[in-house]
Amino acid sequence: MLIRKKRLGELPASEITDQQVYLDRRKFLNSSATIAVASLLPLSMANAKTELPEATYLDLKQSPYSIADELTSYQSVTTYNNFYEFGTDKASPAIMATKFPDKSKPWRVTIEGECDKPGEYDYDDLIRPFTLEERIYRFRCVEGWSMVIPWVGFPLADLIKRAQPNSRAKFVEFMTLYDPKQMPGQRRQVLNWPYTEGLRIDEAMNPLTLLSVGLYGSELLGQNGAPIRLVVPWKYGFKSIKSIVNIRFVEEMPNSAWMKAGPREYGFYSNVNPNVDHPRWSQSKERRLGEFLKRKTEIFNGYEEQVADLYTGMDLTKNF
Ligand code: MTE
Repeated sequence: MLIRKKRLGELPASEITDQQVYLDRRKFLNSSATIAVASLLPLSMANAKTELPEATYLDLKQSPYSIADELTSYQSVTTYNNFYEFGTDKASPAIMATKFPDKSKPWRVTIEGECDKPGEYDYDDLIRPFTLEERIYRFRCVEGWSMVIPWVGFPLADLIKRAQPNSRAKFVEFMTLYDPKQMPGQRRQVLNWPYTEGLRIDEAMNPLTLLSVGLYGSELLGQNGAPIRLVVPWKYGFKSIKSIVNIRFVEEMPNSAWMKAGPREYGFYSNVNPNVDHPRWSQSKERRLGEFLKRKTEIFNGYEEQVADLYTGMDLTKNF
């Protein structure tokens, strides 16, 4: 049973993310010939208020992978977001995604590529076969902030086993919905839409890799990537792609949206690593939302025991 934790209040992004990191990322977006979607919104707009709803997922299986750290408040998890399809500042997604996804339209997910059992599923049919569980994970953004989130979901490995990838399937590519009518941020070329991400097949099969359909015992809100998103807790948060409509097994390493936007800054692996700095800021520490002092960032975000062997023999400074 989850207990609601202390609320964080309404901190603007610039107070939580290091001012410099925040400004640097802004500068990067502008300098790569992009126009910030933030301009769609008055910057003074306050964070939306969110109330912890009644749990809709009952009797969830508890996971041995859950950590015991104090949870980040529901208010922070649902109002301090990165979801550029709804704006580039932290507050916009909670304000702009209240009606997302449009419930009158079916949510379809396509599974395709190098596999023996491809298919196109309605969301309910897609998740029906799987046992949902709760996983309390650390979540570390490349910008230097972190949270502890009680996700609801199932291992991506379960879905992959059903799709039966063939021997050519070396990577898995994920794609977010492209629908500028629902996602106003996609009307501007902030990133190369639709947002895409990828994992090596063994990373995708790792038991920690989760397809999430909820958090805090309830369905995901639009701003958190409803109705289904990826959660890869040992990698920087941008690998955890939201609102997925396409999962494709491929032979070649896919180029993600962030790799296209800044190839020298955002690599394919993007494992949390305090020893490999972002070209413009240190990754050695992080600010956990709700805490005043910074804490040390752990290698693989504290999941070294579960994932380090995926990278045996690899130079993690080159494969960033
Ligand atoms: N997925 C899509 N489609 N679009 C995005 O802008 N942002 C990423 C990731 N997934 C993003 C996305 C980044 S940078 C982070 S840190 C996390 O989502 C944030 O997830 P949260 O808002 O649920 O904390």
